[in-house]
Amino acid sequence: MAGSEFSKTFSRFKLGPLELKNRIAMAPLTRQNAEPDGTPTDEMAAYYARRAVGGVGMIISEGTYPADELGCVAYLSQPGIATQRHIDGWRRAVDAVHAHNVPIILQLMHGGRVSDPRCLHEGESPVSASPLQSEGWVLYTDTDDEKHDRGLSGDWPKVTFPPARELTEAEIERIADCFAEGAARAVEAGFDGVEIHGANGYLYYQFIHPKTNKRTDAYGGSAENNVRAAKLACSRTREAIGPDKIITLRLSQDGVDDFMGAWPGGVDYAREVGRALADCDADALHWSSFDWKDNRDPASDIPMAKAIAEASGKPMIVNGGIADGADAEAVLESGAGDLCAVGRPLFAHPDWPHIIRSGEPFDWIPFDRKYVICPPVDYRHAYPADLVVPDWDPDVSKRRKAD
Ligand SMILES: Cc1cc2nc3c(=O)[nH]c(=O)nc-3n(C[C@H](O)[C@H](O)[C@H](O)COP(=O)(O)O)c2cc1C
Repeated sequence: MAGSEFSKTFSRFKLGPLELKNRIAMAPLTRQNAEPDGTPTDEMAAYYARRAVGGVGMIISEGTYPADELGCVAYLSQPGIATQRHIDGWRRAVDAVHAHNVPIILQLMHGGRVSDPRCLHEGESPVSASPLQSEGWVLYTDTDDEKHDRGLSGDWPKVTFPPARELTEAEIERIADCFAEGAARAVEAGFDGVEIHGANGYLYYQFIHPKTNKRTDAYGGSAENNVRAAKLACSRTREAIGPDKIITLRLSQDGVDDFMGAWPGGVDYAREVGRALADCDADALHWSSFDWKDNRDPASDIPMAKAIAEASGKPMIVNGGIADGADAEAVLESGAGDLCAVGRPLFAHPDWPHIIRSGEPFDWIPFDRKYVICPPVDYRHAYPADLVVPDWDPDVSKRRKAD
């Protein structure tokens, strides 16, 4: 298929107050590349700016902690938006991206029961919706340093977590305020908005997934109750940043400690979640997965994102396994969503949007998880070290003429 045929992918879209030049968003991708105190580095600014040059319509940052309290910090060298240094560091990244007229929003996250125990304060337990223990996950980066630091050995060892403590209602309110305060600092740094992370196994996912939420108060027991904590974070954030900045809310069934995770009730539960989010303060929802068509419900083949979009009436960002232009176009044509979020392909190919738009054949580099964390390479490209930088002209119309 010729690149010019990807007309939906390269059409404009209005997301809240933002005018996006195309339907491609960079998905949030943790790099653990900040300074030890969470300050974003100049390498991070170069890394995000490189993706902006590559033609994405919007960037969603890696998961960032809004506060260093209540077990919020999830990773070593994770960026924060909790201090003035964090604001100043992020401002450099935001300015570098804005120089290419690309909007960028900051993903705010709380790790919940899968926060790295090394990030907890002395005597602190991880927190969650319910007092349950994660089964752990296979280490992302199988390097000797990482294994040594974690006291692990063997090939691809499993990381484990202590049992979680159940959050009180007052603490749930405090965490929502932390998100709002972090969002206000993000706006001070120049971000165009924030994404509330309710996906992938972290705190708000732990509330939304019935498997990890056994509460019997207003925050558990039904789809409506399970989304209440995430909705509270959205509404407090809206109060803090006003109507001119965007808020998105990310959702998934699978998590870092449960890659094949499925919601009991499948599509029916997804529709209940969608209906419960219809009046939330997010401008859009964002469905995260490794295959956007997947719904893991034997009783239905509707993509989960589509079921939630229809039930909520919200614009939908769809993510997962969107590898080339035909995939992106299929997402938009299916009605599953309004925007495509692309993750791993943008690690390897910062020019992914330009490449697919050109319609030229391209030798895609397969993703390798060993490159994920702090790869020893030039961060403007980020992975892998011997990546040849193609001479893609950012101005595609110019490039096509030259061809
Ligand atoms: C190394 C790595 C880091 C990730 N970090 C985040 C993150 O910080 N926040 C988040 O919501 N998802 C994160 N994800 C999930 C991706 O955003 C995305 O959902 C996943 O890679 C599937 O999309 P893809 O097929 O386009 O890569 C991460 C994924 C990978 C592989």
